[in-house]
Amino acid sequence: MENTSAGTPREPEDRGEAVGTLVILGATGDLTSRLLLPGLGRLLTEQPQRRLHLIGADLAPLEAQQWAETVRAAFGSVDATGPAVDHVLAHAEYLVTDASSAEDLQQVLASAAGIPALYFALPPAVTAQAIEALHQVDLPAGTVLALEKPFGVDRASAAALNRRLASLVEEDQVFRVDHFLGKSTVLNILGLRFANYLFEPLLNRDHVAKVEIVYDEQLGLENRAGYYDRAGAMIDMIQSHLLQVMALTTMDAPQSVHATDLRAAKTEALRAVRPFGGDPVTAGRRARYTAGIIGDRRLPSYTDENGVDPERDTETLAEVTLESTTWRWAGVPFILRSGKALGAARREIAITFRQVPHLPAGLDGHLEPTVLRICLKPDAMVLELNVNGPGDPFVLDRGRLTADFGAGRLNPYGEVLHGILERDPSLSLSGEAAKHAWRVIDQIRAAWQSGQVPLEEYPAGSSGPQNWQS
Ligand code: BG6
Repeated sequence: MENTSAGTPREPEDRGEAVGTLVILGATGDLTSRLLLPGLGRLLTEQPQRRLHLIGADLAPLEAQQWAETVRAAFGSVDATGPAVDHVLAHAEYLVTDASSAEDLQQVLASAAGIPALYFALPPAVTAQAIEALHQVDLPAGTVLALEKPFGVDRASAAALNRRLASLVEEDQVFRVDHFLGKSTVLNILGLRFANYLFEPLLNRDHVAKVEIVYDEQLGLENRAGYYDRAGAMIDMIQSHLLQVMALTTMDAPQSVHATDLRAAKTEALRAVRPFGGDPVTAGRRARYTAGIIGDRRLPSYTDENGVDPERDTETLAEVTLESTTWRWAGVPFILRSGKALGAARREIAITFRQVPHLPAGLDGHLEPTVLRICLKPDAMVLELNVNGPGDPFVLDRGRLTADFGAGRLNPYGEVLHGILERDPSLSLSGEAAKHAWRVIDQIRAAWQSGQVPLEEYPAGSSGPQNWQS
């Protein structure tokens, strides 16, 4: 049998020269040392031939040596080695920079070699100021602008930011970063759906009863009140990440997984998303943790955490039920949920199929629907089935087919940075997609802000508010 596409390597669309200089704005921040630099370390270890100039830029008056130490420590945390790593360490540069100053940004760009990528590892308000300042700066041809989440604070601000970015560079030079799209198992949704005949024909309203996209964490606030208390679980996780996972789950097969086709398919999928039944009040619920114990950790009430303003009514657990208004999916609930300080981590996409229409008389046992689980951390796929198991052959048992997914070649930030350095935006959000993600969330948030949806409570270490247990 002939298969014309099998084995064709995924060459990015021709984008010419790779990025020569990565500038991290917000170089002394937590994101840089905890995620970006380790991601870069892994990438450079995988690609020893790459020659990249790294510039750290921030307000803090660091010496170049201190910055190099930060980079070395972060690289060390992922055992990064090899000539590309050595090159970055030997030439790492740090520039004291006010990201809202055109003059400072011009100076940073003057130090760049080759095509620069500016990575805004900054709070949204500072990023917006930096984008304004860049309008007074001569940007080298091809400059890449990479923006961390959240992209804006609502649909209107995301649209305004899109417009300001569009007056600086082309759309494919703008990278709206979502590290979930760099997770190998999230990307595996593409392979699972479009490279097998088994699942794809069943993934529609005729066969699927519900889809849950859940990212429950045991982690608490971890000193991130400055950011998290303004974002909350819905923006931190659902708006930023889980909606993208939903888009990969619901979208139609793209022509290719290159940036143009993949982003168009995802954007189309997001365009179709709305609160389930069109009612933003009943589509969402929210809660906040109170004091409790998780394993050997005792957590204070969220409102007693350092830097939290209880008046903000920030939720630490959010659940929204959405639907994709398409012929394929209309009427199927997509439950997106994420929370902090929960008793057990549950990170998965669980696709529950419909019950069988008729069970032959004489088959006993507990009949449950078939469930396909795509699990994240640890990364695996589990297909839960009813089988005539051991013992009495007429009694049903639950069988599980499990496949462990190996680790990806890179960690999620390594994968994201790979796209940025190759100027391949396949894994970043399009401007339209960002707007659609906010549209859905804005509707639900408006219902929350109008007081129609109570802010409930759950003890840290529990599985959520008691009345949420189904
Ligand atoms: C981040 C959120 O984007 O994703 C965090 O800001 C969350 O609150 C994290 O903990 C989860 O992703 P991962 O890959 O670290 O499990």
